[in-house]
Amino acid sequence: MYTQAIDVGPVDATASRSTTPQDDEFLKRIARDEKIEPQDPMPEAYRKTLIRQISQHAHSEVVGMLPEGGWITRAPSLKRKEILLAKVQDEGGHGLYLYSAAETLGVSRAELIDALHSGKAKYSSIFNYETATWADIGTIGWLVDGAAIMNQVPLCRCSYGPYARAMIRICKEESFHQRQGFDIVRTLCQGTPEQKAMAQESINRWWWPTLMMFGPHDADSPHTGQATAWGIKRITNDDLRQKFVDVTVPQAEFLGLTLPDPDLKWNAARGHYDIGRINWDEFRRVVNGDGPCNAERMHDRVKAFDDGAWVRDAAAAHAAKAAARYATSPDTRIAA
Ligand SMILES: [Fe+2]
Ligand SMILES: [Fe+2]
Repeated sequence: MYTQAIDVGPVDATASRSTTPQDDEFLKRIARDEKIEPQDPMPEAYRKTLIRQISQHAHSEVVGMLPEGGWITRAPSLKRKEILLAKVQDEGGHGLYLYSAAETLGVSRAELIDALHSGKAKYSSIFNYETATWADIGTIGWLVDGAAIMNQVPLCRCSYGPYARAMIRICKEESFHQRQGFDIVRTLCQGTPEQKAMAQESINRWWWPTLMMFGPHDADSPHTGQATAWGIKRITNDDLRQKFVDVTVPQAEFLGLTLPDPDLKWNAARGHYDIGRINWDEFRRVVNGDGPCNAERMHDRVKAFDDGAWVRDAAAAHAAKAAARYATSPDTRIAA
């Protein structure tokens, strides 16, 4: 969800210069579309950019569990509860793969989580919006996970091997998330007038924040050129947003829903839909901490981490005991 993050971090002034023979060799490898692996030489700015992007992506996955997690106990049927439980669990898994990928760049998971909890690190602004109704769970899957797929599929080809490989599995799971969300919205649209109205009201609230997920317009996106040169970013913010709009408008029409944009219309000359003006003031406000649920999300995230301390302590104690047993008797390794 999440490539917007790269556009809101601090600019590294050294990032765009190739200064050493090793850096030149690195750029040649990128040009040959070779994967860069953790042990390979890489420019410090590339490493730092990746740490920032991958960790912001990981934070978005785990904070993204919160808006939907609160609906697990309120899902309208056992089937929906099972599906939502699996989906939220997947998001936790995505966080795990991504924190692990970031760790290969020489940073510890504890440091990254500390940066999130202290408010230093960013995560996707979309998760600072409220999930007020059951329809929001459908809308998140359909639109938010749908936008995430648009952003993330190109990352499967990103130049950094561990990130690219993590994204392959994540994208497969995101595809399931998008479909289950669409299925919830479709079911509501085929239900009572009240259920359809609930779906419409939800779309009205989520449409514009979803479009903001792709990040600022290309003209206002200072990192795009460098991230593209390094093979991290393959498609620009505006092009990804356009792809998303072009596939989603017909889906909304199929469902009999309207999208809350009076300027949305097909442009035959361009072969794409035109959209109205995005409220970037709102985007900046929410990214910088003043969204509807920023404080609540961070409170819940820190509490979940603190409540889980005993699990981490127990796992660490078990691992230490197993390692000690193995040191004295290697045959016990499998049993441990
Ligand atoms: Fe995810
Ligand atoms: Fe997802």
